[in-house]
Amino acid sequence: MRVAVVGPGRVGTLLAITGSRAGWRVASVAGGSTAAREAVGAAVAGVRLYPDAGDAVAGAELVLLCVPDDAIAGVVDELVLGDALEPGQRVVHLAGARGLDVLHRARLAGARTAACHPAMTVPRGARDPGLLVGVAWGVTAQAADLGWARSLVEDLGGDPYEVADDRRTTYHAALAVASNAVGAAVVTARRLLLAARVERPEAFLAPLATASVRNAATDGVAALTGPIVRGDVGTVAAHLAQLAADLPELLPAYRALATATLEPVRPVLDAEVVAALEAVLSPTGPTEEP
Ligand SMILES: NC(=O)c1ccc[n+]([C@@H]2O[C@H](COP(=O)([O-])OP(=O)(O)OC[C@H]3O[C@@H](n4cnc5c(N)ncnc54)[C@H](OP(=O)(O)O)[C@@H]3O)[C@@H](O)[C@H]2O)c1
Repeated sequence: MRVAVVGPGRVGTLLAITGSRAGWRVASVAGGSTAAREAVGAAVAGVRLYPDAGDAVAGAELVLLCVPDDAIAGVVDELVLGDALEPGQRVVHLAGARGLDVLHRARLAGARTAACHPAMTVPRGARDPGLLVGVAWGVTAQAADLGWARSLVEDLGGDPYEVADDRRTTYHAALAVASNAVGAAVVTARRLLLAARVERPEAFLAPLATASVRNAATDGVAALTGPIVRGDVGTVAAHLAQLAADLPELLPAYRALATATLEPVRPVLDAEVVAALEAVLSPTGPTEEP
């Protein structure tokens, strides 16, 4: 399959390398800086480098738009207004939070379209195709386009899962919580362990957080443990008092995470325990009964 990649950043570079290893003919790369394009050129044999997307897509069966989310519509306009797209060409973007509407003008121009999002964090400099092996992808396409969209994900070593067009934002919010918010929670825990003068916080964090994530991902709310789930109000109050003394800047994060833990277990806790937890977790602390 002849492929054009627009946007030689984190994802575009990794997809160019991974697709090439999978047998795609990655023929052209466009956009980004000269240095970024040249880095792809050095990693993928035979790829041609173009500053403008419109020059790169001629003859490509698949056009991968690996630009920032907010740039996708502009690149589509550039391709359509420049009459660069060919009928039947497959145009795909990689943004989890965007659906098919951002590709609508390409579709009107005769292209087939799909939104294919790898649910994996791709850091700057990622070059290893193994990073995408076994990764779940959220795929959105019209029924006639689902087949090739799923196949391209499988070519890259991924597992495609269909996500409805009007559910993409919710889907992406879930992944932002799973990736960014979980990361932020672990960073908060790491700062607390350092404040507790634990020498190697990673020795505690990596096994514990990994087990918690694995259990919660599989079993949902039934996997939650700890003082909130047990209704140990005194322990939660002690945590808050110690944080107020040692690391008051972490109090909002602790309260937010504890509140997020309380919300799904509320139905199985005694109402008085819930009220006591809510009182200690309130930013103003428990209030005295008049
Ligand atoms: N990184 C991840 O973990 C990840 C994971 C899943 C999906 N995605 C999705 O993948 C897409 C790309 O993300 P990324 O992280 O790879 O971003 P990135 O590293 O910032 O790369 C974007 C590339 O597009 C170029 N670019 C920007 N505007 C352009 C335009 N108008 N025309 C042509 N090229 C343009 C940038 O050049 P300059 O740097 O010179 O501006 C850069 O080379 C996004 O939709 C994102 O949501 C990312």
